[in-house]
Amino acid sequence: MEHNLQILTVDLGERSYPIYIGQQCLHDPAYFQPHIRGKKVLIVTNTTVAPLYLAQCQRALEKFQVSTCILPDGETYKNLQELNQIFIGLLQNHCDRQSTLIALGGGVVGDMTGFAAAVYQRGVDFIQVPTTLLAQVDSSVGGKTGVNHTLGKNMIGAFHQPRCVIADTDTLSTLDERQYKSGLAEVIKYGLIQDEAFFVWLETHMDALLARDSTVVAEAIFRSCHNKAMVVARDEREEGARALLNLGHTFGHAIESATGYSQWLHGEAVATGMMMAALMSHKMGWLSIATVFRIRAILVRAGLPLFPPESMDLEQFYTYMQVDKKVVDGQIRLILLEKIGQAVVCAQYDAQLLKQTLSESLARTWA
Ligand code: NAD
Ligand code: GLY
Repeated sequence: MEHNLQILTVDLGERSYPIYIGQQCLHDPAYFQPHIRGKKVLIVTNTTVAPLYLAQCQRALEKFQVSTCILPDGETYKNLQELNQIFIGLLQNHCDRQSTLIALGGGVVGDMTGFAAAVYQRGVDFIQVPTTLLAQVDSSVGGKTGVNHTLGKNMIGAFHQPRCVIADTDTLSTLDERQYKSGLAEVIKYGLIQDEAFFVWLETHMDALLARDSTVVAEAIFRSCHNKAMVVARDEREEGARALLNLGHTFGHAIESATGYSQWLHGEAVATGMMMAALMSHKMGWLSIATVFRIRAILVRAGLPLFPPESMDLEQFYTYMQVDKKVVDGQIRLILLEKIGQAVVCAQYDAQLLKQTLSESLARTWA
């Protein structure tokens, strides 16, 4: 075991699991071994991450019979067709019910591997080894797994918790700037939805975060995971409070779907979605315009986009927002902000306010 390790627990009774956050954990067997039951392990990664980190991960797993599945890189491949590559890997290597899958990569690899683990032989173990900021602060924690459909983002999936999460912060050194900033959107999200003190801390530490100061980055990951672990422990299957983690996502998923999952990064779409949610919250009479501008300021500092793509129109927004897991009986439920640090699920709102929010965001007139 190495230094600078922080450990959190996702408290889910007998399915509880640790999140290890630290440097140089990727190649250390001590983090993996206690969470692997059988002899066989399949590491799932992609063509970008494999040359960077596969060998280190294999070193940590020398005691096991290890095989690998290397997927093409990109959100466009997060679909049922590519998922089959993982099943082929499992079957060709005669993986049994005691086998463990390792998701080595960003949120795309994590979501796909988790889903494969959820359904292979009706459920096998998996371990999350997130290598992007977004995956270390969000997607690797909480057991949401799945793939996209051309008609809607993350529409095919399952809840399936990992046995542990191993977040080696050293891996972030190879992440490009745009991807890193995309992860910052989800970090800012935690401050907005339930942790005002964290939001203020982010305002103070944004320069250090952008400079990737290792202590500050580790703290941001820890505080994000802490927030997420608390929400997941309270509402694992999103019957209530977990929906708040979707701040910005209803708008954001519409952007990702409308642009074919190929132009906007998830965090970028979430950032724009959070800006739209803030504007709508202002129209509801909850946020002052000064607070909307404060939210805008932190997103701008983090280098994140504020407006949806010019190629989109109102109709597209309505069409894709209907394909959202929070829709109940055709009613789009929105996550809005009563104040910084307090998000709410909102089912009752004047449809005109939503229309104005969409129109002003598309026309870029409000800012
Ligand atoms: P990603 O998985 O596409 O990774 C981003 C890019 O970085 C990819 O090109 C990847 O190959 C590359 N990469 C990964 N690690 C790297 C490293 N250390 N160095 C260099 N390059 C590296 O995207 P993401 O932002 O990690 O995740 C987005 C996905 O996560 C979306 O599909 C989103 O829906 C999903 N998500 C899921 C949850 C959840 O709760 N399950 C939550 C948030 C987001
Ligand atoms: N990213 C939303 C959730 O995990 O619930």
